Formats: sequence, C-alpha cells, structure tokens
Amino acid sequence: MSAPKKLFIKTYGCQMNVYDSERMAEALGGEGYVETKSPDDADMILLNTCHIREKAAEKVYSELGRFKGLKAEKPDLKIGVAGCVAQAEGEEIMRRQPLVDLVVGPQSYHRLPEMEAKAREGEKVLDTDFPEEDKFEKLKNRPKAKRGPTAFLTVQEGCDKFCAFCVVPYTRGAEVSRPAGRILREAQELVERGVREITLLGQNVNAYHGAGPNGDLTLAQLIWELDKIDGLARIRFTTSHPNDMQDDLIEAHGTCAKLMPYLHLPVQAGSDKILKRMNRSHTAESYLRLIERIRAARPDILISGDFIVGFPEETEEDFQATMDLVEEVKYGTAYSFKYSTRPGTPAAERPQVDPAAADDRLQRLQALLTRQQREVQDSMVGREVGVLFEKTGRLPGQMVGKSDYLHAVHVADCNRQAGDLARVRIVSSGANSLAGELIA
Ligand code: SAH
Ligand code: SF4
Ligand code: F3S
Repeated sequence: MSAPKKLFIKTYGCQMNVYDSERMAEALGGEGYVETKSPDDADMILLNTCHIREKAAEKVYSELGRFKGLKAEKPDLKIGVAGCVAQAEGEEIMRRQPLVDLVVGPQSYHRLPEMEAKAREGEKVLDTDFPEEDKFEKLKNRPKAKRGPTAFLTVQEGCDKFCAFCVVPYTRGAEVSRPAGRILREAQELVERGVREITLLGQNVNAYHGAGPNGDLTLAQLIWELDKIDGLARIRFTTSHPNDMQDDLIEAHGTCAKLMPYLHLPVQAGSDKILKRMNRSHTAESYLRLIERIRAARPDILISGDFIVGFPEETEEDFQATMDLVEEVKYGTAYSFKYSTRPGTPAAERPQVDPAAADDRLQRLQALLTRQQREVQDSMVGREVGVLFEKTGRLPGQMVGKSDYLHAVHVADCNRQAGDLARVRIVSSGANSLAGELIA
C-alpha cells in the first residue's frame, strides 16, 4: 500500500468553517489523505476562508503568497481555496494567484473527492454552485474514532436577513435547515465517540425549522429531542438573531437542564436610526425587552453580543446610544468590530464615517465591554458551577475545562479526565480564566 497523502487545512472565520473543515478532512480521508499540522510536508493545502471583513479576505492572498516556495520545491503539491472567499471571489482567486489548483464554495464540499482527482491530473477546478442536494448527507465518510468531549454540529446554513453590511447571504446562500432525523443521528454518533457537549451551529440558528416526522421542528423542539440522548450532557447553540427568539426557546432556557445558560445574541448597534439603516428589523427597545424576558426565564444566563461601530452615517450621538445599551445589558462576552466596506452589499455605497472617529469609538466601546466581561467573570468567584474538563493544564495535575457559562476554568490537583463533568467552586478570577476546586 502506498504511503498516505498528507492534507493541511487552515481554517479562518466562524465556527461553521471549523465544522466544515472537519467534514472536508473526512471526505478527503476517504481518498487516502491524513491530516498534518504543517504545510511543509503536505501534498494538499486547503485554506478554508472568511469574507466577513476586508482584512479577513486579504489574509488569504498573503497566505497563498507564502506557499510559492513550497510549490516550487514540490510541483505535485495541490493548493485549494474553500469557504466564503472562494464563493465570493472564485475566478478572481485563480487569476490573482496562479498557484491555486482548486476553488470550492461552501455548498460544494461533497464534490471535493472528484475535484481533487481532477486537480491531480493537472486540471484547474472551480465549483461555486449552490446545488440542491444536502452536502452534509453526502459527506458521511465518517471515521468512528474517539474524539474530544466537545463538538460543533451544523443544523442550519445561509441567511435571508440581508443586513446592509453583511456578505453571508451572498456567500452562504438562502437559509436552509437540515432535517431533524439526520441531526439526531449525527449527535448520537458523536456521543458514541466520546462527545459530551454539542454546539448547534447556524448563521441564524434560532430560525431553524428542519423537517421532523410530524412536520417541522423549531430549534427548541430539536433541543428537547437532543435532551433525550443518554451521555450527552450539554447543549449550546449559536448564532441567534433577536427577531427569531421564539417563546419556546426562551422557555427551554428555564426548563431544559442540558441547555447551558449562555446566549450569543448580537444587537450590532444601539441607535434605532442605525439599526434601521442596517436593515436589522429590531429596535434597541425591543432588544432590551427581549433580554428581560430571557433573564426572567433564566436569571443567571450570560449574554454575549456582536457590535459594529462606524457604520455609514453613524454620529457620535448614535454611538452613545450603543454605549447606553451596553451599560443596560451588561455583557458577559462580546465581539466588536469597526465597520468594513464589503463590495456588493447595500451599505458599501453610502457615505462612510471618518476612520479616525470609528477607531476612537471602537476603543471606547471595547474598554466598556472589557470592563463588563471582567465584572461578570469576577462575579463567579465563590459560586458553584459545572465544569466539563477538556484537557490537562500547563501545571502537573492541573485540568482545564469550560464552565456552564463558557468561562475557562482550571483546577489544580485534579483527579479527573478529559470528558468528565464536575461541580467546581470558583476560588479566583485571573486575566482570562477562573481557578476552581472540586466539590467533593
Ligand atoms: N449571523 C450572525 C453573524 C454573522 S457575522 C448574526 O446575525 O449576528 C459575525 C459578526 O461579524 C456580525 O455579528 C457582525 O457584528 C460582524 N460583521 C459582519 N459584517 C461586517 C462588516 N461588514 N464589517 C464589520 N463587521 C461585520
Ligand atoms: Fe449577516 Fe445579518 Fe444574516 Fe447575521 S442576520 S448572517 S449579520 S445578514
Ligand atoms: Fe466568515 Fe463565511 Fe463564517 S464570511 S464568518 S466564514 S459564514
């Protein structure tokens, strides 16, 4: 038997790309590839890319440039670009960087094995279709090997919301939900391989409406089905849109013990004028009332958010409204970005904010968010939380895991293993993690 070929995948962007990279590795595993951690000994390099902000997209070209020497040394090396830049810029990638052999959009990953074969024959191959078939169903080349205690599981893809700044509806296409039966089978299989926590993924995950045996299931109904799987201890989901936060999902946060008290619910801005121009179809007030209802169902829930500053026509007053909203919500974690112009999106054509003013706003917002995150993290000291251990720590005998609220927690002299779930008392709060001790 010939030696296995080596595959190096580098993943950028969101968790959906992380999930897709695993599926691509599995698909090419069926063609005799094993994964390697270094591009230097690879027979195939795949960049799974992100197009969300200009910087993210530009990174791809600089990374590709770095492989020039490698390709000169190893003419058989095949280089592929997958993900959202592949979808958005397909042929342009081939033009701009002739060393690319293969370009594959996010909906065509099940066609990778044939594409790889063609690339091996010396053809340049490009596939950025939105085919009708379910790519995940056709990507079922799964090894049954043991794996770590946490896993992502994509349940919904694409987006119909068309926020004025965002490329996702164009790169990932229309919103589609996977049938519930397939998701439940995949979850069961993950649990058999050692997984104890599953994060359900979708660009708009709470809009999930996948086919079930008696009609469509909501995300909450899917969560209740997953709740029945023995051995599955924790369920999370991301990312949600405020307008799709239905009553049954809010209620599940109060009643489903496996559903963790953490919710990523991006608001983007606090000014109604800006929200309207962003085409977000919610107001600051409706978002705040929603947070109130969620906290009534689950008082200790940790809220996470995304923010954009310097969106076209944002004034200092509009920005203050974002700061006020943040003060009111008190976020446990948050991601904030300076608006980045994306060609082809409606906001790209509008009057842009002075970049220096946007930088200044971003700094002020990040200072406030960092302070809040720290306060929320510090408030965990003295509390008892569940921790799912994931790996050994840097110190001997130390184990590291995540709390119910997704904080990193380390425990010294810990006689537990990766995959064990324990009750832990938090004793101190550090820069990026909490320290705790096992409760006997
Ligand atoms: N579906 C998710 C988010 C997808 S993109 C949602 O609706 O919330 C992740 C985040 O990137 C967004 O929440 C937004 O804050 C940020 N983002 C998207 N487009 C951007 C742009 N053009 N410039 C800056 N940030 C952007
Ligand atoms: Fe982008 Fe808006 Fe869709 Fe989120 S809801 S993916 S921000 S268009
Ligand atoms: Fe980026 Fe595509 Fe995800 S643009 S954030 S990789 S959906």
